[in-house]
Amino acid sequence: MRKKVVAGNWKMNMTPSDGAKFAAELAPKLNTDNAEAVFCVPYTDIAAVAEAIKETNVGLGAQNLHYEDKGAFTGEITAAMLMELGVRYVIIGHSERREYYAETDEAVNKKLKKALEAGLTPIVCVGESLIQREQNITADWLRMQVRIAFLGIPAEAVPKTVIAYEPIWAIGTGKVATNEQAQEACAVIRQLLTELYGKETAEATRILYGGSVNADNAKALFAMDDIDGGLVGGASIKPEFEKIVNGY
Ligand code: PGA
Repeated sequence: MRKKVVAGNWKMNMTPSDGAKFAAELAPKLNTDNAEAVFCVPYTDIAAVAEAIKETNVGLGAQNLHYEDKGAFTGEITAAMLMELGVRYVIIGHSERREYYAETDEAVNKKLKKALEAGLTPIVCVGESLIQREQNITADWLRMQVRIAFLGIPAEAVPKTVIAYEPIWAIGTGKVATNEQAQEACAVIRQLLTELYGKETAEATRILYGGSVNADNAKALFAMDDIDGGLVGGASIKPEFEKIVNGY
């Protein structure tokens, strides 16, 4: 049985004090028996949110990391820096980072290796654009993104990762994939993991859906066979995140 994961991606929202207040109110209400709940917060909010949720089972995540251990990389953050502050999850390869900061599949692969080496749970994002979906190349695209992201990752590490399928056309648009579209894409990813690593590894790995998840659509999406929870943007900084995690 795969335990569900519901991760909130706060993106570039909330100051440390706003974030701590929001997290302190929300975290105690989240039921983590059936799903791991995670707040992926801006770097500057990490310390304050860590303090605010320390008595709860809610996990703390970052939205990016660098793949080197140290050095002349102005503005970047290492895995060890995150670990020391209590961060245990990290989003890698979000489509906004790919689009606005030219993050490549090769960089995603390096970041994934570094996150695993450090003991962070990576949430690796993949997803197609609207043109790719319309041209019927979604499955090929997802397979390519996952293959490159996982180059050199051994089978035993794969279940320690989380993969988020996020169709770009559904992110922040209010245009959610249908349950069937989301399921189909997540099944493509699980099938690839089966081919690369075998059935047992594929069955043990959590695959999430992301893209306009809200309190009204989450339950049905997360009930699909190959969807093991969600990566939630806009709705993760609203009180409705409670309903998405608690499943009602
Ligand atoms: P959204 O964002 O829920 O606001 O569509 C999802 C994401 O970018 O992870």
